[in-house]
Amino acid sequence: MPVRVPTTRRYLMCPPRYFAVEYAINPWMDPARPVDTEAAMAQWTELRDTYRRLGHTVEEIDPRPGLPDMVFAANSATVVHGRVLGARFRARQRAAEAEHYRRWFVEHGYSDVVMPARINEGEGDFVWTGRMLLAGTGFRTDPAAHAEAQETLGVPVLSLRLVDPRYYHLDTALFVLSETTEGSPGQIAYYPEAFSPGSRQVLARLFPDAVLAGAEDAACFGLNGVSDGRNVVLPAGAGALADRLADRGYFPVLVDASEFRKSGGGPKCCTLEIRK
Ligand code: ARG
Repeated sequence: MPVRVPTTRRYLMCPPRYFAVEYAINPWMDPARPVDTEAAMAQWTELRDTYRRLGHTVEEIDPRPGLPDMVFAANSATVVHGRVLGARFRARQRAAEAEHYRRWFVEHGYSDVVMPARINEGEGDFVWTGRMLLAGTGFRTDPAAHAEAQETLGVPVLSLRLVDPRYYHLDTALFVLSETTEGSPGQIAYYPEAFSPGSRQVLARLFPDAVLAGAEDAACFGLNGVSDGRNVVLPAGAGALADRLADRGYFPVLVDASEFRKSGGGPKCCTLEIRK
């Protein structure tokens, strides 16, 4: 069994003080089904403290009233090699989030911040493998944003097409278990059925060693995981996937993210990685 080596990460998170489901922009959201804000805050705090316990740094951005989805920090930027590509949201209800995050980066000393012309929902649809950016489209991020990300970030971008409305962001259908480095090919997990036939073939060719998730793993947001190369934070329902990752040498850490699922989100959606 391979030895999995963690690397220390820096994350940005937004407390769910104003979190709610007030509109429906994905099939999971039902405004008639109330969110328990206190439970959401407890789940979010557990997630943040889990990262800290694993040795990672967590920065916090202040939430704003009237932006109930601002807790989903992953959607608000993509940061690779210290350069920040901001977001531009598809839904008008979320549009104002982009500027709050842009300002956070500028105020925290990030001088290389570029705002996009095309719709891109940050790490919701852009997933860094260590060598390239996997880029989702089909529901949210404009395919033209993929080329824009390549030009802006100066890294190779590979387009993938999502076809199942329940998995409307790439980070609901795929995540990186270990990054590609000079010494290691890296590894991902994904749910093949969320992708078009062509994109499935691309994934199979590029990642022959991937962990393939099933319908049940996907439905509990098991692909919305956060790995540091060794420890893999997963939503509590994803026990079956957790067992399979343990068989591959990873250390699953299950957290309750049930309140965020009501909005179509999981642990990864609440977590934006800041990469040097
Ligand atoms: N309610 C949010 C939306 O539909 C959830 C975003 C989840 N974030 C993610 N990275 N998948 O936009």
